[in-house]
Amino acid sequence: MSFPKGFYWGGATAANQYEGGWNEGGRGLAMTDVTTGGTKDTPRYVTYRNADGSAGKYTMFGGKLPEGASYAVLDDYYYPNHIGTDFYHHYKEDIALFAEMGFKMFRMSISWPRIFPHGNDEKPNQEGLDFYRNVFEELHKYGIEPLVTISHYDDPLYIEEHLGGWQNPDTIGLYEKYCHAIFEEYKDLVKYWLTFNEINSLIMIAAFMPNAPKELLQSSYIKLHNQFVASAKVVKYAHEKYPQFEMGCMIAGMISYPLTCDPKDVLANQQRMQDLFYYCGDVMVRGYYPGYAKKTWKKLGLDASFFEKDAEILKEGHVDFFSYSYYATSCETTHKDSARDGAGNLSMGYQNSYIKYSEWGWGMDADGLRFSLNEIYDRYQVPVMVVENGLGAIDKFEDCKIHDPYRIEYMKAHVKAMEEALDDGVNLIAYTPWGCIDLVSAGTGEMRKRYGFIYVDMDDEGNGTLDRYRKDSFYWYQKCIQSNGTDLD
Ligand code: BG6
Repeated sequence: MSFPKGFYWGGATAANQYEGGWNEGGRGLAMTDVTTGGTKDTPRYVTYRNADGSAGKYTMFGGKLPEGASYAVLDDYYYPNHIGTDFYHHYKEDIALFAEMGFKMFRMSISWPRIFPHGNDEKPNQEGLDFYRNVFEELHKYGIEPLVTISHYDDPLYIEEHLGGWQNPDTIGLYEKYCHAIFEEYKDLVKYWLTFNEINSLIMIAAFMPNAPKELLQSSYIKLHNQFVASAKVVKYAHEKYPQFEMGCMIAGMISYPLTCDPKDVLANQQRMQDLFYYCGDVMVRGYYPGYAKKTWKKLGLDASFFEKDAEILKEGHVDFFSYSYYATSCETTHKDSARDGAGNLSMGYQNSYIKYSEWGWGMDADGLRFSLNEIYDRYQVPVMVVENGLGAIDKFEDCKIHDPYRIEYMKAHVKAMEEALDDGVNLIAYTPWGCIDLVSAGTGEMRKRYGFIYVDMDDEGNGTLDRYRKDSFYWYQKCIQSNGTDLD
């Protein structure tokens, strides 16, 4: 079996990391606009001003704005997401390059503060609406289907700072208003929608910080529930008003194995997968909380009635397809003397001696893609999209050429794994590798961690021409698409 006719080959990006134009066209601020760059070993910081005018910062993961302080862009720091790699001014050139590679689908996100600068504005920002209309029209010119993430890590900062963010159930109504506006505006241009990027990232804190304070864990589950409700409400609305839409969830692929065949490890891993991965898919695809959720709420001291009160809404708003990001796998064990791998996409796990690790310590495992595709399809029986995958690596730019055999090798193995999964019977319909053009890393804020088939001349300090260059992998992926996944050499 090979890739079916009409398979959506493409690439994926997100506005906060790619678009730039942070203070143009009437756009408001997002949290990523007050987040500095970092590295693999040094954290990204969120910056603010205290009431007395003094500057302050806290680490992106786990920190909090002090009482009386306000988020602020400070002169002494560089904020890589402000420019991204400037899709805002390069979209025509970039889309032409995607078309040259043969893309059938392009995943991008709409920046909510570009449409509603504060989130609670009365009317949408016309310049913002026009920008995305131009982009979608440009994509259609080349027969490329947009796949739009409605919220990808850049909700309006105003909501976070003044309205309590997703902790406050009123944010659900603001999100609905935003969705209604973009659905109506782009109903003839966009068919495929993802309500939230990596919705399970909200509860990843449980894996990142095993000793996280209970209140932090509790609030994460409350925020996630509010996002489930928001998603279900707009999915229901879309189904009723725009029957041509296909609505999907997007979950971070927290795929792990038991480190040993000790049954205790098998059980520990089952729980990890339930807590970090299936918890979200179960609600969003099946439309109700799974049985094991009660145990989690009890463990955290959360009142089950809070989650159960919205059962009807969740049931009515389950999605049409499942999408996830897949980069790496990890292991779980009860033998705590084993080595932690300390990395992976959004998670920490234990090291697997059978796989290789990337420069950023992510466990490269193409078989895990086949494994997860089978698990997901068996469980949900809806079409599946792999909407992020790829290798973050340092590329050498010499004589306007970029030779990236490591990326080609990674991609080739993952395309083969998808082909095997199709052969296993999985209804896989799309593949949009991450950062198809170089963009800012979400985790570290670096530019040097590149995923693209297209190189962008920009460094970690914001120096560069922003010129675009085709890497070797560009031609490889072009051939892969042209042959519908049969010519991978
Ligand atoms: C996913 C996100 O977590 O992984 C992307 O949806 C992110 O926004 C991607 O960029 C890769 O992670 P990183 O940290 O290498 O950019």
